Amino acid sequence: MGIADRRLQYETAGLDIDDLLADPIAQLQQWYHQAEEAGAAEPNAMVVSTVDAEGQPDARVVLARNIDANGVTFFTNRHSAKGEQIGSEARGAATFAWLELHRQVRIRGVITLASDAASDEYFASRPRASQLGAWASPQSEPIGNREELNDLVEEVAQRFDDVEVPRPPHWGGYVISINSIEFWQGRPSRLHDRFVYTRHGNVWRAQRLAP
Ligand SMILES: Cc1cc2nc3c(=O)[nH]c(=O)nc-3n(C[C@H](O)[C@H](O)[C@H](O)COP(=O)(O)O)c2cc1C
Repeated sequence: MGIADRRLQYETAGLDIDDLLADPIAQLQQWYHQAEEAGAAEPNAMVVSTVDAEGQPDARVVLARNIDANGVTFFTNRHSAKGEQIGSEARGAATFAWLELHRQVRIRGVITLASDAASDEYFASRPRASQLGAWASPQSEPIGNREELNDLVEEVAQRFDDVEVPRPPHWGGYVISINSIEFWQGRPSRLHDRFVYTRHGNVWRAQRLAP
């Protein structure tokens, strides 16, 4: 089948304003758990969008590691391209796509550093090989070949032989705050349901958008 002919009818139940929780964070957590239960391959995968110093947008998949009132947390190398971009422009976006459920969530907000305590705690929970990788890989830098990377890992493995791997100073979390968040539910004939929550002081208001 040609790519232009691929067409899936979304027969999932609709979404009405009365179905939505008053707190969009709780709504996001509920949809995340439903994606997990539906067997989504990586339900915590999200696309994080940033903007570079010249105003050029960039985007990549990362794994969400926490969702709470402060926003959505992910972990990375802070010297990476995304780290540099967040350093020059803190506004960003995150998009979850749960295709099994015909759902999308779009978040717009500001990206700030997670606390050292949160970064330490998550780093300590990672498998040792991933901890060594965080030291070894100069993420987003050009690298000659795979062997060069293996040598860097070997060097780090020797350095931390027999000791706990500490969190690298350039590695840690970011929290994407939620200034607005849209919940999208696919419906038949492309007449999808969309609701966007925006913050008004301490109160969230949800508004239906045309699909
Ligand atoms: C499913 C999936 C999960 C990923 N999770 C992460 C992650 O949690 N942290 C991370 O730094 N990169 C993750 N990556 C790699 C990023 O997409 C990206 O290649 C890397 O962070 C470098 O991005 P940058 O050059 O824009 O900084 C993941 C990629 C995929 C496909």
